[in-house]
Amino acid sequence: MSDMPAPPKHRWVRTEDGSYTLYSETYDENCHSTAGALGETQNYFINETGLAKAVPNSTHINIFETGFGLGLNFLETLKLFKGSPCHLHYVSTEIDRGLVDWFFNRHDEYKIPNVTYEVLIGDARETLPKWKEKNPDKKFRYIFQDAFSPKKNPTLWEKEWFDLLKSVSKDATLVTYSASHSVRKALEESGWKVENIKGYGHKRSATKAYNHG
Ligand SMILES: C[S@@+](CC[C@H](N)C(=O)[O-])C[C@H]1O[C@@H](n2cnc3c(N)ncnc32)[C@H](O)[C@@H]1O
Repeated sequence: MSDMPAPPKHRWVRTEDGSYTLYSETYDENCHSTAGALGETQNYFINETGLAKAVPNSTHINIFETGFGLGLNFLETLKLFKGSPCHLHYVSTEIDRGLVDWFFNRHDEYKIPNVTYEVLIGDARETLPKWKEKNPDKKFRYIFQDAFSPKKNPTLWEKEWFDLLKSVSKDATLVTYSASHSVRKALEESGWKVENIKGYGHKRSATKAYNHG
C-alpha cells in the first residue's frame, strides 16, 4: 500500500515488521503500533477475536469496526473469507471521508461474492444509532474497537459508546489494543465482561470483552 500516495492529512510510517501504517496530522498519532501494523492487526482482530477459527465453522459473520482508517483490518479480514462459503457483513465507521474515498479508489479486494460491507461516514456516535434504527434486528458477533487512543479520541472510549456497542451486538467478542484502567471500567459499567490479554509488540496487555446478552 505504501507505494500509493498517502491520503490527505496523513503520511506513511514504516513499522518494525516491515508493514506500513499512516500517521494522522489531525490526531497526531499513528494508526497502528510501531512494532508492526500488520502484526498488530493479525494479533488482535484476526486471532484474539476468535475470527480466524470461526470462519471455517460458520455460514455468516457480522463484524463492526470502530475506525476504518487505512482499511488494514478490512483487508486482513477479507483474506479469511476469500474462497470460503461463509458470508461476511462488515460495518465500519469513519469520520474522515478522505480516507474512505482514498481506500475505495485504490482497492478491489472486497469485490467477492460472499462479502457485503458498509462504511458509515461521520461521527460514529451519530452514524451508529442511525444504522441501528434502520437495522433493528442485526447484531454483531465481533467488534474491532480500533479508534485512536483514549487520550486523543476520548469519546469513543466512554461508557455511552460501549452501551451503544452492546445494544448492537449479541454473544459478542470485542477486542482492543487499549489496556487502560478507565476504558476497562467504562466497559464493565456498560455490562461487558472484561478480560486481560497479552499486548502486541511493546505493549504488555490489551483487552478483550464479552457481551453474553
Ligand atoms: C487507529 S485508526 C483505525 C485503523 C483502522 N482500523 C485500520 O485497520 O487501518 C482510527 C480511525 O478512527 C477514526 N475516527 C476518529 N474519531 C472518529 C469518530 N468519532 N467516528 C468515526 N471514526 C472516527 C479516525 O479518523 C481514524 O481513521
